[in-house]
Amino acid sequence: MDIHALLKEMSLEEKLAQMSQFLASMLSVDIEAEITGPNASMRLTGADIASTGSCLGGKTLAADVIKLQDKHLSEDPHKIPLLFMRDVIHGYRTIYPIPLGMGATWDEDLVTACCRMAAVESAVSGVQVTFSPMVDLVRDCRWGRNMESTGEDPWLNGRIGAAMVRGYQGEDLKDKHSIAACVKHFAAYGAVEAGRDYNTTDISEHSLREYYLPAYKAAIDADVRMVMTSFNALNGTPAAANKWLVTHILRDEWGFDGVVISDWSAFTEMITHGFAEDRKQAAEYAINAGNDIEMMSSCYLHNLAALIDEGRIGIEQVDAAVLRILQLKDDLGMFEDPYGGASSEEEAKYCLCDEHRALARTAAARSAVLLKNEGVLPFSRTAKRLALIGPFADCGMIGSWACNGTAEEAVSIAAGMKRALPDAEITVLQGCSADLAALPDEVLEAEAVRAAKVADHVLLCLGESATMSGEGNSRADVSLPEAQKQLIRRVVAANPNTAVVLFNGRPLALGDIIGEIPALFTAWHPGTEGGNAIADLVLGDVNFEGHLTMSFPYHVGQAPLYYNRMNTGRPKPSEESTQGYCSRYIDCPNRPLFPFGYGLSYTSFAFGKPTLDRTTMARGETLKASVTVKNTGMVAGSTPVQLYIRDCVASLVRPIRELKDYERVFLAPGEEKQVSFAVTEEMLAFHTADGSYRAEPGRFTLWLASDAESGDPITFEYSRERL
Ligand code: BGC
Repeated sequence: MDIHALLKEMSLEEKLAQMSQFLASMLSVDIEAEITGPNASMRLTGADIASTGSCLGGKTLAADVIKLQDKHLSEDPHKIPLLFMRDVIHGYRTIYPIPLGMGATWDEDLVTACCRMAAVESAVSGVQVTFSPMVDLVRDCRWGRNMESTGEDPWLNGRIGAAMVRGYQGEDLKDKHSIAACVKHFAAYGAVEAGRDYNTTDISEHSLREYYLPAYKAAIDADVRMVMTSFNALNGTPAAANKWLVTHILRDEWGFDGVVISDWSAFTEMITHGFAEDRKQAAEYAINAGNDIEMMSSCYLHNLAALIDEGRIGIEQVDAAVLRILQLKDDLGMFEDPYGGASSEEEAKYCLCDEHRALARTAAARSAVLLKNEGVLPFSRTAKRLALIGPFADCGMIGSWACNGTAEEAVSIAAGMKRALPDAEITVLQGCSADLAALPDEVLEAEAVRAAKVADHVLLCLGESATMSGEGNSRADVSLPEAQKQLIRRVVAANPNTAVVLFNGRPLALGDIIGEIPALFTAWHPGTEGGNAIADLVLGDVNFEGHLTMSFPYHVGQAPLYYNRMNTGRPKPSEESTQGYCSRYIDCPNRPLFPFGYGLSYTSFAFGKPTLDRTTMARGETLKASVTVKNTGMVAGSTPVQLYIRDCVASLVRPIRELKDYERVFLAPGEEKQVSFAVTEEMLAFHTADGSYRAEPGRFTLWLASDAESGDPITFEYSRERL
């Protein structure tokens, strides 16, 4: 398609409609009839609706999309296809674990495979763009949207974000099973103060560049086609109005030439922020910052023409935005096939097909993290009586942002365990209410205790329901609700052969109960195949491989808590130390309860001391760092060997450790392998005091470890001169 020629033929009104996005349901109305409902409140005319460029949301099926596209093409003056966008966050219909769980797999190929599966299901159902990956750096367990992120490490988030983009977009965007990805929320939305959603952020340029921006950049480098600006004000400027961020960094510095979309109604929120006087000023700020599409408000539609007339913005700004939108449509092949491969037959063939369910099952098992096990897990396959107790024992746990997936289509723990142990007597009981504020219930507890007493094994199914995390669901207290804690105490007292499976969309603070739990793992919100995957793990058919990508605190008061923190001038000498006037809490450990990178297995791994092939490294050289890892247990297992580095003295204070690489190693019982990494200059580089990005000469410490708190250190020197 000659999009430049097409642009020349378009009226200004049509161009502005391309730059607007509304709900699919708002576009399905009869444009000849009286405009009512949300269309009327947004003052949309029949002509606006006819030439709108894209739509979002709604649990649409292929048939709905085809119908809406046909209607649109019959009304749009230039027959420019409508783009359908959805939040395909962790699966379209076959739901795999929430992104925080996918991060815990430390398996980029698996992430890509899951996103490919989501792309196939989306594409055949008529979706052409997903608002994913979300790569916001998260450090505060209170924020509900932690579940959408892959964690607290900038580098790992970038790696996983890029793996997601590869899965969605495939080799070729024109492939009928590929969809475009949209990285979000640009930028630093994960740093909302006090973990309260939509709150403000205040971050130095150094911290932005060093910690918050790299993951978005990694997605850009992976050729992500769209970027979404965030809700938060960043250093006083709402992100959607932030020209420094969107034009200077994203477009000029990083060379991004794709489409930038706002978040939902974020332009009008500039007024509520106290930044724009009115919608017209918001539109001016937004286009000057560099946003191409306005989601779910009509500041552009109603004000850009006047702003052009008044000479406050130029038509060339509108043209540039529209060209980027048309380019995306062309790249997606929409001008050749406006349905983007949507087909009811294909939808029925792919959505929830056996192959997709099998992949979701693998992903759910690999994402689970074993946090504690005093010999309780795995349960015996020959057990006669099992008790599954808790508010989440008997329901599908698909989590927030589950797109077209439903809890009813998902396998509950009860269903999974019954399928795995058809001859066992399995009792399923609620134990307590799922409510955050629920008080212990004597009747439910007594029933649970009775069942626990006669069971060979008990699995307590606790944590958070889907609505306790996700957008708008921040929590000030991230410990387990009182009713769940009391249930743990009573059930464990009745039967110590009890394990707890947690469902959670964020790290929970378990400091006050962990001592009373004999075995614990998190399954996050595992998705469609959760119950089967949990049965696989609990019965030892599949080993635990997941490792945390967000620190779990003892207490919420430790937030924000992250492993790549600074040392301070007065670090606590050791966790056991009682020394005063050092950086500590007098009522809580400094360290997390479970650190970044942590995860147990049914086997154990012994890490040897790390070795280096040399202790000095000159400019342009690489070092080889190696460690021997041995499986010292009785079953096969896998663990990610994690490479951490510290720059000991630098022109700016550097974190006590930073993840620079990892490699998964698979070991049979008794097997030992040497794992080696190339240590590159790039791993030593940072945004230095003079603003340049480079490695500074000096001493570095390196660890090859199983988590961010373990491992033996080894040091080396980096010199700028050739040695
Ligand atoms: C969220 C975005 C999402 C958008 C569209 C907003 O409320 O912040 O992450 O993509 O809605 O559903």
